Amino acid sequence: MDQERSPAPAIPATGQLRPSFSAEGALGILEGSWSGPEPLVDLAVEPATAIATGVAEMDRVLCGGLVPGSVTVIGGEPGVGKSTLLLQALGSMAESGLSVLLHSAEESAAQVRLRADRLGTLSSGLLVSTGTDLDSLLGSLESWEVLNGGPGPAVVAVDSVQTVTDASSNAPAGSIAQVRLCASCLVRMAKRTGCAVILVGHVTKDGSLAGPRTLEHLVDTVLSFEGDRHHSLRLLRSTKHRFGPAGELGMFQMGSSGLEGVEDPGKLLLADRRPGVAGSVMVPVLQGRRVMLVEVQALVAESSAPVPRRFAQGLDAGRMSLVLAVLESQTGLRLGRSDVFASVAGGVKVSEPAADLALALAVSSAATHRCVPPDLVAIGEIGLSGEIRQVDRLEGRLGEAERLGFCRAMVPASSDPAVRCLPTLRTSGLKEAIELVYS
Ligand code: TYD
Ligand code: MG
Repeated sequence: MDQERSPAPAIPATGQLRPSFSAEGALGILEGSWSGPEPLVDLAVEPATAIATGVAEMDRVLCGGLVPGSVTVIGGEPGVGKSTLLLQALGSMAESGLSVLLHSAEESAAQVRLRADRLGTLSSGLLVSTGTDLDSLLGSLESWEVLNGGPGPAVVAVDSVQTVTDASSNAPAGSIAQVRLCASCLVRMAKRTGCAVILVGHVTKDGSLAGPRTLEHLVDTVLSFEGDRHHSLRLLRSTKHRFGPAGELGMFQMGSSGLEGVEDPGKLLLADRRPGVAGSVMVPVLQGRRVMLVEVQALVAESSAPVPRRFAQGLDAGRMSLVLAVLESQTGLRLGRSDVFASVAGGVKVSEPAADLALALAVSSAATHRCVPPDLVAIGEIGLSGEIRQVDRLEGRLGEAERLGFCRAMVPASSDPAVRCLPTLRTSGLKEAIELVYS
C-alpha cells in the first residue's frame, strides 16, 4: 500500500503574526551572545506587538497580551484553574488564526480534548502534544517545519513545568534543579525562535515548592492565579512583568463552563455584605490600575491564650501590628487581652497603606460593638503619631464609591480640596476620625 505522508496539521500561515525583530533585539538576551558598547540613542528598535490572548481579564493583566519571544509563568495552587485558564486562552488565540501548541505533561490528549469540548474552545489551530521528556518537545519544535510543513507555533504552552524532565540531569522530576533546567531550556527556545511560551507551575500554600518562585528570575512575566477552591472567585495578578506595570489584577468566576471574566468586581464583592454590623468598614483600594471597593472586617474577642492572637487575611500582618499599636496609643483602646482577627472579604489582597484607616475603624468598631455608618467609606494611611496621611488617586477611589451607592467618605484632611465626588469628612488624626465616625 502506498504509504502516503499524513497531511500536515492545519497550521495557518502565521508569517505576519510572527515577531518581526531579531533574537538579540526586543526578545531579551540569548545565552552566550555579546554585543559591544554602542550609543543607546543609535539603536533602532521596533516596539514588540503583543499577541492578545482573547481572554479580556488576562489581557488586562498582561497589558495587551503575550509578547513574542517572552516567557510567562502562570503559578497557582493545584486545582485553582490554571489548566482551564490556559486552555481558554490557547483556544481563543487559535480561533484568531494563530497556530498554538499545548504540551500537556499531566493530562492525556483525550482529557485535554474533553475539557476543550466542555469549554467550547476547540479550534483547528490548537495542537496538543503530550509527554514528560523535554528533549522530545524541543526536538519536535526544532524540526517543526519539516514535520508539519509550516512555520512553528506562535505560542507554546507547557502544563506543567514541574512534570517535564531533562534527561541530561539525574535530578528527580519536580525538584528545583529539574524545574530550573527545563525552564531555562524553554527560555532559550523562546528567545531563539520568537514564539511566546507559557509555563504552568504549581505552588503550595506558602509558595515554596519548586515552582514560580524558583523561576521568577528566569522568565519575563509571572502571573499568580489565586482563589479559594470553595468559592468561585479567582484572581489573576502579575507579580513580575517586563513589558508593563506589574500588580494588575484580573477577576474571574469559575462556573460550569469554565472561567468567566468579572466585569464589575465592585458589585460582586458587595453582594454578600451585611451592612450595619460592627467591625465592617468599606475602603476603595487600588489593584493595579483598577479601583476596587473592598470590605475590611475585624473581630475582637477575649483571648484564652497566654499570648493573644493576631490574624490578618488579605492584609499585611506587619501593617496590622502597626495600626493596632497606634490605635492603642492614640485612643486608649486596650487590646492586650484580646484576639484580633482582620480580613478583606472576597479573597482580595490589600497591601497598600491607604486601607489603614478602614482597618483601624473596623477594629475599634468591633472592640466597642458600635457600627460604622454603612454608607461611609474610609481612606487614609496612618502614621506612627496617629496622623492620617494622603493617598494616591483619591478622585478615582471616591468616584468608584459613589458609583456603588456610597454617600460619604472619610478622607485625610490634607487631601486636595478640589477633589469632590462625595461629601467628605476630613480628618487629620485617628482619635478625631473615631469621634467623627460616631458623631
Ligand atoms: P484545573 O484547571 O484543572 O486546575 P489546575 O490546573 O490549577 O490544577 O481546574 C480544576 C478545578 O476547576 C476542578 O476542581 C474543576 C473546576 N472546573 C470547573 O468548576 N468548571 C470547569 O468548567 C472546569 C474545566 C473546571
Ligand atoms: Mg492543571
